[in-house]
Amino acid sequence: MDPARTSNGTNRPGRIIVVSNRIPKGDVPAGGLVFAIHEALSGGGGLWIGAADPTEQALDGLTPIGSGIYDRATFAITEEEHHGFYLGYANSVLWPLFHHRPDLLDIQDGDFEAYAAVNRRVARAIAHIAEPDDVIWIQDYHFLMVAQELRYLGVKNPTGLFLHIPFPNPTDVMALPQVAALSSWIAAHDVFGLQTMRDVASADETLRHDPKAEQLPNGCWRRENRTFRLLSFPIGIDAKGFSDTAESAPTPELQLAPKAPLLIGVDRLDYSKGLVHRFEAFGDYLSRRKSGSVRPTFLQIAPVSREDVTAYQDIREELECASGSINGAHSDLDWTPIRYVRRSFERNVIAGLYRRADAALVTPLADGMNLVAKEFVAAQDPEDPGVLILSHFAGAAEQMSAAILVNPFDRHRFADSIERAIEMPLDERRDRHAVLRKTVFEQDIAWWTNSFLTCLRGVPRGYSDPD
Ligand code: G6P
Repeated sequence: MDPARTSNGTNRPGRIIVVSNRIPKGDVPAGGLVFAIHEALSGGGGLWIGAADPTEQALDGLTPIGSGIYDRATFAITEEEHHGFYLGYANSVLWPLFHHRPDLLDIQDGDFEAYAAVNRRVARAIAHIAEPDDVIWIQDYHFLMVAQELRYLGVKNPTGLFLHIPFPNPTDVMALPQVAALSSWIAAHDVFGLQTMRDVASADETLRHDPKAEQLPNGCWRRENRTFRLLSFPIGIDAKGFSDTAESAPTPELQLAPKAPLLIGVDRLDYSKGLVHRFEAFGDYLSRRKSGSVRPTFLQIAPVSREDVTAYQDIREELECASGSINGAHSDLDWTPIRYVRRSFERNVIAGLYRRADAALVTPLADGMNLVAKEFVAAQDPEDPGVLILSHFAGAAEQMSAAILVNPFDRHRFADSIERAIEMPLDERRDRHAVLRKTVFEQDIAWWTNSFLTCLRGVPRGYSDPD
C-alpha cells in the first residue's frame, strides 16, 4: 500500500476525537482550556466530547449538541457522579495534589469509584464510535483512566493525553491513594503530553519508581509491552487573533487619574493563583510608596470558581479580607488602590484592559502554563508595551524569561518588582516585549496543536502494543 495512504483508503487522516470535561453548550467562552480546544479544532474539524449537565440517570452513548467546522457531543453524568468525579476526586484530590498542595486533599470514600465509573463510560462511548484512522486526544486530569479503559476494550487507535496542569513532584504523589496505579494509567497512552520540561522531569521521576517501567535509550518509556512517550508541549494562544481584538477593542472607561498606572490581574478565583500573596505584595509596595508619587490602581478580575468545594470558599474569604484591609490602610478620598471584581467580562473587554494596562501580575504559586501571560503580551502595543510580572511557578516562565520573574512567596522582592515595572523606561519595555512577543506568536495555538497531533499521528501502528 502507498505509505501516504491511510487504512480508510484515502489520503485523508482520520478524525480527531477530543475529550474534555468542559464543553461549551452555546457560545465558546473566552480564554482558558475550552477556548484553546475550540481554536485547535477550528483548524481541521473533528469531534469534541464533553460532560452533559448532571441528571438523575446516566445512560451510555453520546448526545450530539452541535455541528459546524467540528461536531460536539456530550456524555451523560448523574448528580451523584458529578459530586464524586468532578467536585470530589478531580477537584478535591487531583487538583490540589498536582498543584503541590497535598495539605488541601479531601479524600472521601466513593469519589474515586465515581471518577473511574465516568472514565469507563467515556471510554465505552469512544470505543463505540472510533474508526480505524481516528486519533483520540484526551484533555486534562479529569480523564487519566480513559486510555487504560480504551485498551481494555481493544481500542488500538493512537491515543494521547495532554495534562493542562502541573505534574506532582515524586514525594507529593505518594499522597494519592491510587499512586500504585498511576504509571499504568500513563502507560496506556501513546503520547502523554505535559506543559513544561519541569513537568516531564517529575513524571519521569514517578515512572522511575515503578519497577515495571523502563526508560529506553531513545527517551521513550516501556511498560508491560507498551511503549509510550512523555513530552512537553507548552500550550499557546491565538496570538494574531488576540492581538487584533486588543487593537480594535474600545478603550475601557476606568476613571483613573491622568497618568495613574494601571496594573492588572485576571484569574479564576483559585488558591493556586497566589491572589492573596499578590495583594499583600501590592500592599507592601503601597506602604513604601513616597507620598506625592504616582498612585497606581491594581485591577484584579477574579470570577468565582468551583464554589461547592470548601477550599474555594476559604480562599474567597481570605481574599476579601486582604483587599479590604489593604484598601482600608491605603485608600484616599479619591483613590482606591485595589479594585477587586468577581464578575467575568467579554473577551474584547479583557483584551482592551490588557492593552491599556501598564503591567500585568501573573503570579501563581503553581500553574500548568497560564495563558493570561501570553494574552497580555499579544495585546500590547509594541511601540509602548506594558510589563509582564511573571511567577517562576507558572509553566509560562520556561518560555518567557524576558518577563520580570518573581517569587510570589518573597513579598518584599515581589514589591520591588512592582516598583520596577511601574518605573521601567520605554527602551527596556520595548526590548523585553519584543522577545516575549516573538515566542507568543511563533509558539501559538496552531503550533501547539500541530506539534501534539504530529507526534500522535506519527505513532506507528503496532508500535505501542504488539498484540
Ligand atoms: C483549568 C483546568 C481545566 C478547567 C478549567 C476551569 O484550566 O485545567 O480543565 O476546565 O481550569 O475549571 P472548571 O472546573 O470550571 O472546569
